[in-house]
Amino acid sequence: MSKKFGVVIAAGGSGSRFGSLVPKQFVEINDVPVISYTISKFQMCGLIDEIVIVTHKDYVVYCNDLVKSFNFNKVTTIVEGGSDRQESVYKGLKQIQSEYILIHDAARPIVSVNDIIRCCETLLEYDCCALASKVVDTIKFSEDGTFVDGTVDRSKLWSVQTPQGFKKDIILKCHKNAVFDSYKGTDDCMLAENYGYRIRLIEAQSSNIKITNYNDLAIAEVLLDV
Ligand code: CTP
Ligand code: MG
Repeated sequence: MSKKFGVVIAAGGSGSRFGSLVPKQFVEINDVPVISYTISKFQMCGLIDEIVIVTHKDYVVYCNDLVKSFNFNKVTTIVEGGSDRQESVYKGLKQIQSEYILIHDAARPIVSVNDIIRCCETLLEYDCCALASKVVDTIKFSEDGTFVDGTVDRSKLWSVQTPQGFKKDIILKCHKNAVFDSYKGTDDCMLAENYGYRIRLIEAQSSNIKITNYNDLAIAEVLLDV
């Protein structure tokens, strides 16, 4: 019988905004690389059967060693990434056996096991879903980046995170079509939206920041409580 829930962990980026020699997902917090915290959430989650890691070719051996030393026995494949996130994710998706797929950023180690479970459960009812938070700041619009041209109604705005979940056939088809159409999206939901699918929002119950800038590391350390 094929496996049910799998996750692609995208760890193929270089972290240019973070600005360290080692990509941010491999930077250590209390002597443990960020990506280990991320993988451990899916390893711990009883619903997840299969983990595929996508990483830069220079870090494939590193990830292999890490998986062995932390005994992440749900990791089935470590695959070389692509030149952007979309390419990396597509490479990972091709390795997944499961019927339902979550896609998650390695740079989001704070994700809670409970929110992962909620994504899996939602997928049993809807084709596509994404963890998200309501926007709390007032959002301004600016044409030139100097003066405000307007204020956006924030009551309908959501800040979308990962995991994003999909039925495997749907997201694979969307990625395939996107290559054919040279369509680029900033997340996987955007691809699904472009091909006519509706995304079920799941309001995150706990903080799920993406480590982007160097300051985020200190915030992640506090939120991880390690
Ligand atoms: N990612 C990936 N393959 C790429 C680019 C990004 O798998 N070619 C992954 C990153 O490793 C990260 C996630 O996608 O876990 C979200 O991307 P982002 O936060 O933008 O990370 P980077 O692209 O590495 O950072 P930056 O944009 O600052 O260079
Ligand atoms: Mg990036």
